Amino acid sequence: MEVIICDTDAEVGRVAAAAVAQSARAKQARGGDPVLGLATGSSPLSIYAELARMVGAGELDLSRARGFALDEYVGLPPGHEQSYAEVIRRTVTEPLGMDPALVAVPDGAASDLTEAAQRYEAAIVAAGGIDVQILGIGGNGHIGFNEPGSSLASRTRIKTLAPRTRADNTRFFASADEVPVHCLTQGLGTIMDARRAVLVAQGEQKAAAIAAMVEGPVAAYCPASVLQFHNAAIVVIDPAAASRLELADYYREVYADKPAWQRF
Ligand code: GLP
Repeated sequence: MEVIICDTDAEVGRVAAAAVAQSARAKQARGGDPVLGLATGSSPLSIYAELARMVGAGELDLSRARGFALDEYVGLPPGHEQSYAEVIRRTVTEPLGMDPALVAVPDGAASDLTEAAQRYEAAIVAAGGIDVQILGIGGNGHIGFNEPGSSLASRTRIKTLAPRTRADNTRFFASADEVPVHCLTQGLGTIMDARRAVLVAQGEQKAAAIAAMVEGPVAAYCPASVLQFHNAAIVVIDPAAASRLELADYYREVYADKPAWQRF
């Protein structure tokens, strides 16, 4: 796990976007089309802003890239502005110049959710797997909507949101009662299959989860800790999110001492 501590959110976005763009361009150089795993939430917005800048400047072309969202609420009517299908359309597909036909979100309105989850897994496999998975982290250590207790080998499936997650996400809804109780989410096993994982976090409210993920034991209690087993996971965080890391100074030193070609 590579931990990169950046001074500002804009720098978090710049570094993480550079890692994503590097994976995308490497795939294109091999004659393929990149497959991106897409997170919602506030954390990756600075990544998407920087990727949109690159696309606008002609430095990156994602018009043939495929996208797979991490998760979706169950029970919101299609077109609901807080459904992740809509959030992904507004914050990713359109600004990054992606083709909507190539961007998939789990179908939280399906009558058979188990079948919808299996179909989603099959679609990822059919696309050749995810090249680079963008991730945020919940205050309780979730990635996607894999709440504490999730199997470290889980695949896309229905989950019940933890009370803290529902409380955290109340800000997007008119009242706490309107926050859905269930969701479909890529599993931890699905996320681990991505060739590269880029996780971003900002702010003191993420500091405990980041410390547990990076320096705690690998345990379903902190689902993100499974990334310790990933061979290409990059964690890009601001100083507040890094504030409970015991080895923060060491991670800063490691990154500062890297040769320029290994940096982002
Ligand atoms: C959300 C999403 C996650 C996200 C996390 C943190 O509910 N399902 O994919 O990473 O919780 O959200 P935020 O980045 O807004 O703090």
